[in-house]
Amino acid sequence: MEIVRGKQTSFINSFELAERLNGYTNLHIDIGTGDGRFVEHIARSNPKIFVIGIDACRENLQKISHHAPDNALFVIANALALPAELNGLAGTVTINFPWGSLLGGLLDNETGLLTGLRKITRAKAALEVRLNGGALAEAGWSLEEGTCCIQDVLAQNGFAVRSPVWLTPHDLRACPTSWAKRLAFGRDPRAAYLKCIKL
Ligand SMILES: C[S@@+](CC[C@H](N)C(=O)[O-])C[C@H]1O[C@@H](n2cnc3c(N)ncnc32)[C@H](O)[C@@H]1O
Repeated sequence: MEIVRGKQTSFINSFELAERLNGYTNLHIDIGTGDGRFVEHIARSNPKIFVIGIDACRENLQKISHHAPDNALFVIANALALPAELNGLAGTVTINFPWGSLLGGLLDNETGLLTGLRKITRAKAALEVRLNGGALAEAGWSLEEGTCCIQDVLAQNGFAVRSPVWLTPHDLRACPTSWAKRLAFGRDPRAAYLKCIKL
C-alpha cells in the first residue's frame, strides 16, 4: 500500500508493516483522516498503540506526516477499496465526520467499503463513527435519519451498534479532530456518535 511522509511517497508490504507493528498493543485505523491531527493526537497520547490514518487526498497528509511520531503512519487509499495489507489487523477503527464517497458508501451500504471494514478489523474490534448534520444534509438526509440508516447498514454488516449519542458543541470542542473544531464553532454544530463492536 502507498504511504506518505511529507512530500515523499513509497510502498510498504505486509512483512514491512508487520515489522512496524511489532511490540504495539493495538492498531487503530482512522479512515478519512483529513489533515491527520486526530491520528497524531492518538499516537502521541498512547505510545503503546500504533495508529494509521487513511485518506484518498494525498495533499491532506503531507504536512502532518512530515513530523509524525514513530507509532503513526499515513496511507493514501480509497476507503471503498481498503488495502489488503491491513486485513485482520485493526482493533479500533474510527471514521470521523465523513463526507463525499465515504459518507455515501456508509449510507448506501457500498459493498467495497463495508467488506473492507469487516476485512481490516479483528474479532470484537471497536468501530466508532461520528457524523455531522451538514454533511448528511448535503447527501439529502436529516441528522437523525442518516444516523439511523448508517446504524442499520453497520448492523447488517455484522457490527453490534449501540444507540446513537447526540453530540453537543461542547462535545465537538473536546473531540481532537480539525473538523470537529470547525463544526463546533460553525453554523450547524449538530453531530452524532455511533459506537459498534464487530461480532
Ligand atoms: C470532513 S473531512 C474529515 C476529516 C477528519 N476526519 C476530521 O475529522 O478532521 C472528510 C475526509 O474524508 C475523506 N474522504 C472522503 N471520501 C473518501 C474516500 N472514499 N476514501 C478516503 N477518504 C475519503 C476526505 O478526503 C476528507 O479528508
